[in-house]
Amino acid sequence: CDILCIVGARPNFMKIAPIMRALSARGLRARLVHTGQHYDSDMNDRFFADLGIPRPDINLEVGSGSHAVQTAEVMRRFEPVVDDLQPRAVLVVGDVNSTIACALVASKKGVGVIHVEAGLRSYDRGMPEEINRVLTDQISDLLFTTERHAEANLAREGVDTGRVHFVGNVMIDTLLHNRERAVPWRESLRAAGVDLAPFEAAGGYGALTLHRPSNVDDEGVLGRLVDTLVSLSRDLPLVFPVHPRTRARLEGFGLWKRLQSGRIAVLPPAGYLEMLGLMRDARLVLTDSGGMQEETTALGVPCITLRDNTERPITLDEGTNVLVGNDPERIVAAFNAVLAGDDRRGRVPEHWDGRAAERIVDVLAGWLDQRRPATAG
Ligand code: UD1
Repeated sequence: CDILCIVGARPNFMKIAPIMRALSARGLRARLVHTGQHYDSDMNDRFFADLGIPRPDINLEVGSGSHAVQTAEVMRRFEPVVDDLQPRAVLVVGDVNSTIACALVASKKGVGVIHVEAGLRSYDRGMPEEINRVLTDQISDLLFTTERHAEANLAREGVDTGRVHFVGNVMIDTLLHNRERAVPWRESLRAAGVDLAPFEAAGGYGALTLHRPSNVDDEGVLGRLVDTLVSLSRDLPLVFPVHPRTRARLEGFGLWKRLQSGRIAVLPPAGYLEMLGLMRDARLVLTDSGGMQEETTALGVPCITLRDNTERPITLDEGTNVLVGNDPERIVAAFNAVLAGDDRRGRVPEHWDGRAAERIVDVLAGWLDQRRPATAG
């Protein structure tokens, strides 16, 4: 095939959808490999259905494991796929373990590596994703960026800027494509059997997600966060779709009950269209997700990010994002500022216009022609 596209985990699915569409519109032969890093139906199948992604041609079914085991398993299982399909290039997105694993296999075989969402840096090497980002960019032949800071980051690391193309944000392509189809918040709550009365009475809600190891893996940190969130929910009720990792920690640390003591609607992980609706309709969003910082900026919804740093600084410079870490005082202050109407509306960054995937495929088609001619098969 021409391009072997890779997905592994939830934040990859919304990025690959517009790319697959644009590749096919251009007549390039694309195949889709799912590594199986995420496998639960609510972390996985629902996204394919919501986003209209074709069924993966191959599923490597790696499942969970330590970082080393997961990364190694993807590599071991992906190599024969490359041998078999002989792609002209492998396209990876984002920063999960599947991203670096497949990029590394391809580069060692002399197959071109294309990285979409290149050059983002939190400058926090304690984040597993930062390691994946830095290493993937070093071995990529073609790098597509979402914001202008990224190119400077790459230049600093010695990446040849001739390989770097600022195209915008494919995740925002997906958001704009699906905005009208988003599930209204009341429907999501009703489907989960939540009593709507407190939400109606409060005249709104905040949407909350949490899954970063730095927030959920330490009992003291997670306990303080839960207490803070419970107390905030007295002023504005919260809707909290819970990631499997977070649920396991909350239960393991005996915090599950405490979480329910506030006005917090606890939901299973949301599908794409549900989460989009929950963000779009929210008064504010509290999150430690990377992608949601960008999605809220595109939607114009205030975002309070429960991290000390971000690899997506455009959301601070131009968007609706503020960083507060996991310190209760800073969280409360940011939350109160939004409720007091003291928040920035922000603007939508350059090239976050729904056409990033088209730009990628334009560049990609030219690059493939230069690299070597297509062969049949
Ligand atoms: C991964 C990504 C992270 C991304 C997140 C979104 C890496 C290094 N991290 O983190 O960047 O923001 O996905 O979800 O790749 N689990 C399930 N069902 C699943 C998937 C996972 O129960 O379908 C459980 C696993 O057993 C594990 C935990 O969730 O205990 C974490 O899963 P894993 O994929 O290792 O990492 P995430 O924390 O989800």
